[in-house]
Amino acid sequence: MDARRMEAVAPCAQAGGFARGLEEGLRRTPKELSCKYFYDAEGSALFDAICVLPEYYQTRTEVALLRRHAAEIASLIGPGAEMVEFGAGALRKIRILLDALDSPHGYSPIDISGDYLRSVVQQLAVDYPALALRPVEGDFTLPINFAMMPGATRQAGFFPGSTIGNFSPDAAMALLRRMREMLNGGGLLVGVDLVKDPAILHAAYNDAAGVTAAFNKNLLARANRELDADFDLDAFAHYAPYNPRAQRIEMYLVSLKRQSARLGDGRIEFAAGEAVHTEDSHKYSIESFREIAVRAGFAPRAVWCDDNRLFAIHWLESR
Ligand SMILES: C[S@@+](CC[C@H](N)C(=O)[O-])C[C@H]1O[C@@H](n2cnc3c(N)ncnc32)[C@H](O)[C@@H]1O
Repeated sequence: MDARRMEAVAPCAQAGGFARGLEEGLRRTPKELSCKYFYDAEGSALFDAICVLPEYYQTRTEVALLRRHAAEIASLIGPGAEMVEFGAGALRKIRILLDALDSPHGYSPIDISGDYLRSVVQQLAVDYPALALRPVEGDFTLPINFAMMPGATRQAGFFPGSTIGNFSPDAAMALLRRMREMLNGGGLLVGVDLVKDPAILHAAYNDAAGVTAAFNKNLLARANRELDADFDLDAFAHYAPYNPRAQRIEMYLVSLKRQSARLGDGRIEFAAGEAVHTEDSHKYSIESFREIAVRAGFAPRAVWCDDNRLFAIHWLESR
């Protein structure tokens, strides 16, 4: 890799915090953890495995939409842009945009999963030798000082994967507002999972191969690896029902018996049947998501959706 093009992934001061977050969340009543802690290198690899599951329609539908509408998206973004991706993951979807854009100037992927980000950015640097790269290991829910790259004509945000669904509607609005400010007037391309038949949603988060269950349990496995904890993974069940009133998948780890686990200097007690809330995944209609975007100060300009109305991609411009 050309050292002039890319500093080592820059860690933000606020990245990490897993030990403190786990301790606080498991001592709360009811127990609750942020889904951002799923993502160490192992969690990122498990998410990649989820993306190719037959039940997980989200990734293949969003990729097909990006491919089909790449030229139109590229013309809305314009030439010479710096693309800023929030929660960049495997960096696969951005390649579709980079290949369609007119002379993209640079790419700034932000992800909390630093080791994984480092590994995938290496390959991107080889494949796109003219692109300026600025990978950032950080938490996009916290302030990140993000001036536009010198030489870029504008910034454009990219937030695929329906990661926005992991936030409550009010928190999603606040996050979109912060992203708008970070993008210095640039637009945002955001992928959003749509409300649909609960059976399709339920299957997507309860796959037959048990990969989503392993992803959920990675929170505890990660604590065992990093924090010298001793959670018994077999003594917790993955439980992910769809709540149709709140229009969200709710994900839990449920203790299958009364038990305790070592964490730090103390122990965490679990009653039989006690649940740890680990993730929500909110679903939206095109209209309900646009309302949130407008409250965040964006003007919704374009939306693309597949024929089966499974998934939508919105192009939002700053007002
Ligand atoms: C649902 S995955 C989506 C990955 C990829 N963008 C895609 O569309 O396939 C969420 C990604 O966001 C990252 N992530 C989750 N919470 C984050 C946070 N608060 N700050 C930065 N990255 C985060 C995870 O590490 C993961 O790569």
